[in-house]
Amino acid sequence: MQIKRVEDIYLPDSLLVLLFEGEKFSGINNEICEIIETLKSRRDFTGKKGSLLRVPLIQGNLYLLGLGKREDCKLNLIRDSLAKGLRNIGRNHNKSAFVYLENLKNFDSLCVALGEAAILCAYSFDKYKTKDEDYEAFSLNEIYTDIYDDKEISQGVKFAESQVYSRELANEPGCVITPEKLAEHAKKLADKLNLECEIWDENKIKSEKMGALLAVGIGSKNPPRFIHLAYKPANPVKKIAIVGKGITFDSGGLNIKPDQFMLTMKGDKTGACNVLGILKGAAELNLNVEVHGIIAAAENMPSGSAYKPDDIIRARNGKTIEINNTDAEGRLVLADALCFASELKPDAIIDMATLTGACAVALGKNRAGLFANNDELADKLLDSSTKSGEPYWRMPLEDEIISESLKSPFADLVNCGERYGGAIFAALFLKEFISNNIAWAHMDIAGVDFLDKERGIYSKGASSFGVRTCLNYLCGIC
Ligand code: BES
Ligand code: MN
Ligand code: ZN
Repeated sequence: MQIKRVEDIYLPDSLLVLLFEGEKFSGINNEICEIIETLKSRRDFTGKKGSLLRVPLIQGNLYLLGLGKREDCKLNLIRDSLAKGLRNIGRNHNKSAFVYLENLKNFDSLCVALGEAAILCAYSFDKYKTKDEDYEAFSLNEIYTDIYDDKEISQGVKFAESQVYSRELANEPGCVITPEKLAEHAKKLADKLNLECEIWDENKIKSEKMGALLAVGIGSKNPPRFIHLAYKPANPVKKIAIVGKGITFDSGGLNIKPDQFMLTMKGDKTGACNVLGILKGAAELNLNVEVHGIIAAAENMPSGSAYKPDDIIRARNGKTIEINNTDAEGRLVLADALCFASELKPDAIIDMATLTGACAVALGKNRAGLFANNDELADKLLDSSTKSGEPYWRMPLEDEIISESLKSPFADLVNCGERYGGAIFAALFLKEFISNNIAWAHMDIAGVDFLDKERGIYSKGASSFGVRTCLNYLCGIC
């Protein structure tokens, strides 16, 4: 997708105008203004939030998109609306679009949102569909705009490309992306971007005392992998570790999931895919922060060699864990990864995981859970979340009763508590593996990782929610 400054009043084959309810439009040229005012007076288009109207002109099409009342509009709505409008244009055989932004120029980071929408609107996971004669490719490849901020647009484009990279991987099914394949993708990315890259196979995982990751991966014929990437600029201001849950398929293991819960569990590697997307973004934006990407990858399967309820395993920091549910596997693989991250003594650790159905029940499909042992880190992440339009809600990381339920009669910890407070239990479990007083945030992205229908910037499937929040955060510290 190319994004260019519009020369004079050049009208390509489509024109996108975002309109507020009750606001007179006076841009572009008299003809367009007249059309818009006529449509308004006939109440064909009033600017109602979410409304979209295509008006065929002699030359090309005019697309009108309603934003509702100006006072209620946030950048997030503009980003979503731009994506919706551009997606429609691209599906309508139009190759180029002029996006009129003059009436929106008071919104901060407007061109970041345009860059993001331009890339995200064009993405769909359709590589496995046969392209027969009815197939219509997305045709839009040139966007012109009257308000052009070079730096903002390129930032938005890079943010979105990182998200698309993660979505493309997360959408792949479990038969394509195994832990080994995920590691190959990480290596390929590292080679391309000159990142440091270390991959541990199951033997090394064992000798490195990652007993929890090993236990989860042992039941599958596709063995586990531990992946460590590092982006190291010359004089970084900070060192940040980003940790991802990389369960390439979560069947539940011997505590097998019922059918309707197993479907979409290819998405249980989204945290890991996001980590790779963030590393790509950090390197391509030349951020002045050292960023470590840490991934614990395994396939959670039932088999004769699988780990079992009642097993007692030992994590990298020496803590023992009694397994009472093999479906609570994410916290186990993360335990070893968080120990490793703590050993690097970074300024902060952020982990991302499709960790608990309980978090999705609590917050729905549009908001992720944020847990943190440090208010400053939490506030910075919430601020980045608002900027990127990926909503989070801070959840408690303190609870006497739930903390008590983490104890096992036979080991240091159990891996699973009662149903109530399941997301908090999981977060408190993870906290046991953070050492050296490091500022740490845990993002539970279960529920927001996968969309069953397209919405705003998202197409159906993996959302890779969290990539832009983290990139925004990293941009903010350098
Ligand atoms: N990967 C799941 C969590 C999940 C659920 C992600 C729904 C996305 C959508 C996780 O490994 C899991 O199975 N969690 C269990 C925990 C329980 C056994 C304590 C759950 O949420 O039911
Ligand atoms: Mn599970
Ligand atoms: Zn899982």
